[in-house]
Amino acid sequence: MPERYAKITGWGKYVPERVLTNADLEKMVDTTDEWITTRTGIKERRIRGENEQASDFSVKSALPALQMAGITPKDLDLIIVACSSPDYLVPGVATIVQHKLGAQCGAFQLASGCSGWVYALVTASQFIQAGSMNNILVIGTDLVSYGVDYTDRTTCVLFGDASASVVLQPSEEPAGVITYELGSDGSGVHHLYVPGAGSVMPIGKYGERLINERLGYLKMNGQEVFKFATRTLSSSMKRVMDKAGLLPDDIALFIPHQANLRIIESAARMMRQPLDKFMINLQKYGNTSAASVPLALVEAIEEGRCKVGDKVVMCAFGAGLTWASAVVLLGSGEVSLAHSWLSLGRIARRTVGKARDAVQNFLLNMQLRRYEAKRKAKAR
Ligand SMILES: CC(C)(COP(=O)(O)OP(=O)(O)OC[C@H]1O[C@@H](n2cnc3c(N)ncnc32)[C@H](O)[C@@H]1OP(=O)(O)O)[C@@H](O)C(=O)NCCC(=O)NCCS
Repeated sequence: MPERYAKITGWGKYVPERVLTNADLEKMVDTTDEWITTRTGIKERRIRGENEQASDFSVKSALPALQMAGITPKDLDLIIVACSSPDYLVPGVATIVQHKLGAQCGAFQLASGCSGWVYALVTASQFIQAGSMNNILVIGTDLVSYGVDYTDRTTCVLFGDASASVVLQPSEEPAGVITYELGSDGSGVHHLYVPGAGSVMPIGKYGERLINERLGYLKMNGQEVFKFATRTLSSSMKRVMDKAGLLPDDIALFIPHQANLRIIESAARMMRQPLDKFMINLQKYGNTSAASVPLALVEAIEEGRCKVGDKVVMCAFGAGLTWASAVVLLGSGEVSLAHSWLSLGRIARRTVGKARDAVQNFLLNMQLRRYEAKRKAKAR
């Protein structure tokens, strides 16, 4: 039997409209655009609308991914939603996503903080490679804004909300996850966590304390997380490349978790790779947790920074402390078709945009000429 690979055949993203800039944050906490920019690289982030939940985000990024893969929700065999900010504490958000999409398959939430989506991608690939499933939707969604304390300048400047999805399908040609590493070091749990509202501090018993001490919000030991992240990003990426027998020069693009530009710069230095081989979009979105790596992947494809046949390395890290890396080969076939359609779509949009501008300019000139002629006639 030929080997079976799990190929990415569709992708989509969703970011909410509301933008929270560094200038906005200057009015909320004791911070400056200069501090945020130089310490993190972040300029703005997106924040969910008042009634938008993780399930809504997930559906909005999933639908274009399904369409691109040429399947409907009914064709799905499994939905995995990497998410640590679900609609409800119980049940996980995946079942709500399954219902809203109208899918008829199993669905589960994978809560592994910012590493969640890479964990989910690797997990989904196993089902397809084993031959037990054919169509899997892998979503990364987080609405970190609802769990962040907007009186705590050390955390609130870092995070934003987003969702991104991919569809995985079987392929006989090499494609998808080639090698991976899933890591966990629970000794660092208190470096990045929400102390209250779990079984350690149930709301019913500790409600008042949770509110007074703001224990229902994300707490972070920034320096410890920073050290862990700089250590992990380059070393884990190197290990997955080694496992695949690849050198950094064989890689078209590194797609790191978008937590802090300084963390990415440090990895680039350690790997002796130019920074422009690293996908960076954190200036627009901040750290979107489980959505971070898939959102960067989708935008990298949209911007033509990686294409069919390219090998990319992804690495996410975060609460737990956890990390997950993968070397991924962007396959041909549907992906190349999808990519061509996407490119055609972009060219068409650009052409339509240019034509619209030309027509508007023409009409404006006509109006100006008419106005000028009237003015001259009046003057005579
Ligand atoms: C959070 C982070 C940006 C802080 O940068 P840093 O250079 O380590 O800054 P420090 O924590 O040493 O703080 C330096 C000073 O800036 C202050 N500061 C912290 N946040 C600030 C803000 N938003 N605006 C202005 N000053 C701030 C601190 O209070 C401290 O002041 P002090 O020297 O008077 O005590 C950095 O540690 C980081 O990115 N850590 C990793 C976070 C992360 O990625 N988390 C998610 C992982 S998934």
